[in-house]
Amino acid sequence: MLLLKDVRKSYPQPTGGSVTILNVPKLEIRSGEQIVLRGDSGSGKTTLLQIISGITRADSGQVLFDGTDLTKLSESARDRFRAVKMGYVFQTFNLLPAFTALENVRLGMTFGRGKYRLDRAKSLLSQVGLDDRMHYRPSMLSVGQQQRVAVARALANQPRLLLADEPTANVDPGNQQKIIDLLKEVCGKESIALLMVTHSDSISQQFDRVEYLDQINTVLTSEARS
Ligand SMILES: Nc1ncnc2c1ncn2[C@@H]1O[C@H](COP(=O)(O)OP(=O)(O)O)[C@@H](O)[C@H]1O
Ligand SMILES: [Mg+2]
Repeated sequence: MLLLKDVRKSYPQPTGGSVTILNVPKLEIRSGEQIVLRGDSGSGKTTLLQIISGITRADSGQVLFDGTDLTKLSESARDRFRAVKMGYVFQTFNLLPAFTALENVRLGMTFGRGKYRLDRAKSLLSQVGLDDRMHYRPSMLSVGQQQRVAVARALANQPRLLLADEPTANVDPGNQQKIIDLLKEVCGKESIALLMVTHSDSISQQFDRVEYLDQINTVLTSEARS
């Protein structure tokens, strides 16, 4: 379903010049697979998720998603592709402040197959424990509640791939497990592949496949050797 080949990304430095963040010879994700991505802070996990989702374009290499190379598409074409095929739980949530929790989840369906299905939006919010908060705007929700809305929104469209950037980072342990259970259950039932960043050992243990960025990314491998 997804294949990364020789993906490189560097960023300009404020002091001039540029620094290579990622050099990934190969990464493959099969349909319905559930994967944890781990790595130190600043190691490039968010950058990798953004390249896979097409939010950021790789400098070189191929990002093949169902046969389409995202690196060959324009920014707007990548946005449309992502809206149909992928869900993304942002580290900073990116909820729309003027809309309620329920509206935020329904907006996640705008471009997709399950167009505006109110019952699914409500059911997802209920599954993340927000039955009584559906009509609250983000500013009226705690940080952990906002994170749960973001998870429901990312699942709303029944994407092929769900990218989740530390989706339990701001949530108490009880709700952490609820989010993980929801992600695993919905993704399993609907054959949604899941790539999730976490720093938690106990969460990682619940996944069959754990990828470590310092093993995928040869920039970090060579740093470790030197
Ligand atoms: N837009 C950007 N411009 C310049 N450097 C960036 C940018 N985004 C990320 N970086 C750098 O790339 C590295 C990896 O960042 P990131 O992918 O956010 O790491 P992680 O998510 O693993 O903590 C960091 O050193 C960061 O400073
Ligand atoms: Mg990050």
